[in-house]
Amino acid sequence: MLPQVTATRYVTPLKEGGSLPGIVEASDDGTYVMKFRGAGQGLKVLVAEVIVAGLARAIDVPVPDLAVIALDERIAKYEADEEVQDLLTASVGSNLGVDFLPGSLGYDGSQPPSPDLAERIIWLDAMTANVDRTWSNPNLLVWHGRTHAIDHGAALYFHHSWPSRAPSPQRFAAQAFDASRHVLRDVAGDVAARHDELAALVTPERIDAALDDVPDEWLETTPDLPDIGSVRSAYRALLDARLDSTAWVPGRAAA
Ligand SMILES: Nc1ncnc2c1ncn2[C@@H]1O[C@H](COP(=O)(O)OP(=O)(O)OP(=O)(O)O)[C@@H](O)[C@H]1O
Ligand SMILES: [Mg+2]
Repeated sequence: MLPQVTATRYVTPLKEGGSLPGIVEASDDGTYVMKFRGAGQGLKVLVAEVIVAGLARAIDVPVPDLAVIALDERIAKYEADEEVQDLLTASVGSNLGVDFLPGSLGYDGSQPPSPDLAERIIWLDAMTANVDRTWSNPNLLVWHGRTHAIDHGAALYFHHSWPSRAPSPQRFAAQAFDASRHVLRDVAGDVAARHDELAALVTPERIDAALDDVPDEWLETTPDLPDIGSVRSAYRALLDARLDSTAWVPGRAAA
């Protein structure tokens, strides 16, 4: 389970973030980038963030620590900015906290990661179908000289179709990944050559741990997935099927 904290102060919005994430202080004296449950795409974005961060840790891709942040309605009440107040009001309850990395720099290519780490990050993005790591939106922070991966809300986008379409492990297993616009493409070497080693690190235990990190109340049931146990099982089945396939591994199909 992720640490559970309570927001004590809303500090400022992060104007760059499309989903209007904000900086908050919390009861553990930590400062977090808060991703709101009430923002545009809803809870599934938070679920993707938690699962992909868990998989990132399994293959040694640095990611900021995560926490679940309880947001009280009083914090919303004292917010002057109307847009922010609406977002806070819509987000009373549990939200995602991403440990704020003070002094980190957005990735601009001037301090590239090692080819090894670049290959791990591309493999992670391919495995989780994360298209959101391009030059227009690198979603990498350099902190203490190490490249950290952030912003995984766009990954695992198959779940957005679940309300109307039953999960299909076969479809996800076969879905190709286009790494041609990936921000680390020119830093990485042969990603396909890393597949066996990296896939072996994503054990069933690591997948379960990543899924267990997702708070129950963020898992949305559907007619096909009538309880949260079946929602977790669906994620597990899709990730297992993906790992059993190589259709998505960059460089593999072309070789
Ligand atoms: N843990 C962190 N520490 C420091 N800065 C961060 C952290 N997380 C995010 N940021 C900053 O906030 C910006 C927005 O964060 P993020 O990309 O996670 O949000 P988003 O709303 O999903 O963004 P978008 O949709 O625009 O990609 C980042 O580009 C980065 O500059
Ligand atoms: Mg981003």
